[in-house]
Amino acid sequence: MEKREELYSGKAKSVYTTDDADKLVLLFRDDTSAFDGKKKEKLDRKGMVNNKFNAFIMQKIEEAGIETHFIQLLSDQESLFKRLEMFPIECVVRNISAGSICRRLGVEEGKDLNPPTFEFFLKNDDLGDPMINDFHIQSFGWASAEHVEKMKELTFAVNDVLKTLFLDGGMLLVDYKLEFGLFEGRVVLGDEFSPDGCRLWDSETREKLDKDRFRQGLGGVVEAYEQVGQRLGVNFD
Ligand code: TMP
Ligand code: ASP
Repeated sequence: MEKREELYSGKAKSVYTTDDADKLVLLFRDDTSAFDGKKKEKLDRKGMVNNKFNAFIMQKIEEAGIETHFIQLLSDQESLFKRLEMFPIECVVRNISAGSICRRLGVEEGKDLNPPTFEFFLKNDDLGDPMINDFHIQSFGWASAEHVEKMKELTFAVNDVLKTLFLDGGMLLVDYKLEFGLFEGRVVLGDEFSPDGCRLWDSETREKLDKDRFRQGLGGVVEAYEQVGQRLGVNFD
């Protein structure tokens, strides 16, 4: 599949059209960004690691019967995807308290959340991705009530699949962010799943193995991502 023109370039990935109007190429770059683009760095090998990691996870999610936009790996840093009409929304599930919920609600990091909690954020860097609720989404027409319910259902379904997968590799899935879009009228999982968009801790030591290493300047970012992949059996060769 030939890449045609760049459709969009985000903080860490670029999207290209192909000769098939329903398919896109996603290029995972080495660029790493946090705090809505305020902290930026190029990390050697990160694009390759996230591309292969994402392919592995998307396949696990598909095997569990949840439709994703992933089609196939094309090269070290590129994969082929179905073109979705994306909702401008981020769906976050939290199994353990960390990150923004601790600051917002004044709770300490590391508390088990039972049941896991769910939050919507609006994709808008200029506004710092504000938290929004179901009513905002419908009032402003970002998605219908039916699609909102489907996104929640699918985000929790992914939790069941991935919590077990990571636990088997000795890791806790603390929280994660998913994005969805429409394909032929169906709500389908889009974007990526990698340690850039979730929190993963070692089950025993609670060592951070995700993008918090970058956000908090802990070092060993790509090494940690690779370690996560290796524990799951991802092939980075
Ligand atoms: P938060 O604690 O910053 O709200 O993030 C919760 C989880 O969702 C964390 O794993 C990071 C991920 N996330 C993103 O990857 N991008 C985003 O824009 C947001 C809001 C969250
Ligand atoms: N909100 C996420 C972070 O803090 C993503 C981003 O800002 O790029 O990393």
